[in-house]
Amino acid sequence: MKIIGFAGSNSSQSINKQLVQFTLDQIESIETEWVDITDYALPVFGVDLEEEEGYPDNIKKFLDKIQSADGLIVSLAEHNGSYTVAAKNLLDWCSRFQTKFFKNIPMLLMGTSPGGYGAKNVLGAAEQRFPKFGANLIAIYSLPSFNDNFTPETGIIDLELKKEHEKCVEQLINTIS
Ligand SMILES: Cc1cc2nc3c(=O)[nH]c(=O)nc-3n(C[C@H](O)[C@H](O)[C@H](O)COP(=O)(O)O)c2cc1C
Repeated sequence: MKIIGFAGSNSSQSINKQLVQFTLDQIESIETEWVDITDYALPVFGVDLEEEEGYPDNIKKFLDKIQSADGLIVSLAEHNGSYTVAAKNLLDWCSRFQTKFFKNIPMLLMGTSPGGYGAKNVLGAAEQRFPKFGANLIAIYSLPSFNDNFTPETGIIDLELKKEHEKCVEQLINTIS
């Protein structure tokens, strides 16, 4: 049994990576693995490139990796009310290679931002779209005002937000156990 986590960001300082890594660290009963999407470099998706060169090996490698999981934890960064370019590019490639690439694997979907809205625009988009990619959304968690509510030493500071996070993680674990 394994839970794999990744963030929809290519920033080395990504707050969404920090949130995923913190979440994985909270899980003791199940093996966890952190995946960095920047380890799966991809060209910008285009139908001409797709027709001329087919699918990059990194798409197959990325999908083999995440599809080996029994549970997924994904945290999306928000750029201009939507996915980051890196995340959207990855999703576009994956969706062309296999429509339902999330394979019905139970997923905890999260998002955080420095602002008070907590990446809820991109979370709304993903809540609509991810099930079409075969995602089995178990829980959705938004952490607003990351810099006020999270420290590397403590993790989530705000008690209500921490409790809600714990509940979401528990829901994922209960689903796959
Ligand atoms: C191009 C750009 C657009 C952004 N647009 C938004 C936005 O629409 N909503 C938001 O909450 N934050 C926005 N931000 C701030 C990001 O939430 C912030 O940079 C955050 O750290 C991104 O997540 P990451 O650190 O995991 O990459 C934007 C940042 C950039 C660079």
